[in-house]
Amino acid sequence: MSISVDEINNRFRRSGASDPLFAPVDGANCPNLVPPSETAPSRYYGGRQGRGSDSAKARSLLLKDGLIRVFMPLNPNADFSIEVDHDPYTCNTDPNFAKDPSTGVPIFSMYRRPLISANLAFKTEFLSFGAPGLSNNIMWDGREPTLESQAIGATFGHAQRDLATQGNIPAADVKAIVDYETEFFTAQNDDWRGGGLHRNGGTGGVRNLKVNITPSSKVLPSFPAPGEPFPDPLFIPFNEFDGWATSFSPHQRSVARGQALFNGTAENDRGRFTMGEVAGFNDAFGGPTDPQPRQTCATCHNGMHGGGDMLQSNQRNIGTAGDFAGRGGSALRTDLPIFKITCHNGTPNFRTSPVFKTNDPGLALISGKCNDVGRITVPSLRGLSSRAPYFHDGSANTIADVVKFYNIRFNMGLTSQEKADLTNFLAAL
Ligand code: HEC
Repeated sequence: MSISVDEINNRFRRSGASDPLFAPVDGANCPNLVPPSETAPSRYYGGRQGRGSDSAKARSLLLKDGLIRVFMPLNPNADFSIEVDHDPYTCNTDPNFAKDPSTGVPIFSMYRRPLISANLAFKTEFLSFGAPGLSNNIMWDGREPTLESQAIGATFGHAQRDLATQGNIPAADVKAIVDYETEFFTAQNDDWRGGGLHRNGGTGGVRNLKVNITPSSKVLPSFPAPGEPFPDPLFIPFNEFDGWATSFSPHQRSVARGQALFNGTAENDRGRFTMGEVAGFNDAFGGPTDPQPRQTCATCHNGMHGGGDMLQSNQRNIGTAGDFAGRGGSALRTDLPIFKITCHNGTPNFRTSPVFKTNDPGLALISGKCNDVGRITVPSLRGLSSRAPYFHDGSANTIADVVKFYNIRFNMGLTSQEKADLTNFLAAL
């Protein structure tokens, strides 16, 4: 219920461009790039045939990084404007694709990895500070409030159902889709060095994951009464490898140490860091920089056994969209579009100027708030090993690259052993 770049390339070799994964609408960098024989008129092609000649080149982002084209308008009440600064695939400037064909409203094309469509039972609700509600973390940018609305949106968008000729999706079909996807669970089951993840006192693997989906696993740990101190660490999402702390196997012990670093339960506060300048965290829950080096991976990846985010406001800018370059974030990529953002109400949180560039505005396109540029959903973390590359834009090729990113971004000072432990733990989820 997920995809890896290896599998995408195998499928392309086996089926060529005829597999639905490679549909010009979203499998190509832009529909106008595919060879004419691969297109048929449709509203999302601007009624045109592709003009390209190379099937693989037209889909380079999907084949290289597992990225699917997402195309959306900007919230009409946005407090910022967007200019297209760099458009390597012409989809943000070709009038057939850069505007809605019926309304003329500008449409922006971005490229994102599909999120995992299993373990969704963890994602459908949250309970934060006693208030039940929707988790809002189904999509990378939180644009779909429910799995039902997601199923409808994707059928008309990615799957190109035509409302005029095909009508609405029957409610029973929507329900069937949601019932199906909330019954799916996925997790790493075995580790080639660590063995069965449910053996020798470990409680990893997919069966345990399914068993752990109980009403109480979906909610945050209860908050202390007013005046009572907060437990520290506040969240301990994973206990799968507690039983491996004293294992005979060096690899199993490494996984257990990685889990402790992640949870913030390691000795001497190893794995903890000062969380600074994270839009969607520091401005939502506290000052610009938490002075205490006490945050952990689990601060954001807090969902019990899943590692998704159960807090409200769960899109956060950790610096993966190129708009935090030079301050610990990734550099702007030139193999992706670059957008120039101009904020109308002054300099947003944690930025040095009201004008800046990004590869992907993230939540801001939906919310219309300049403060939200670059905010991206905190994804859940099971079954990571089988679905490289990582991050919404596939910019981390391996789990070790993810760890390297965080070590720099949050100045964690991890030793090479600690990096290996954290990597081994993530690979066992
Ligand atoms: C401030 C919140 C925050 C903290 C702290 C945090 N993460 Fe994340 N994590 C995110 C967000 C947001 C993303 C998605 C970023 C993107 O895709 O561009 C993410 C993505 C990931 C991914 C990639 C998952 C995938 O499917 O692509 C992994 C793995 C991960 N984090 C592990 C960690 C580890 C390990 C730590 C601690 C060293 C950590 N995270 C700390 C917010 C956070």
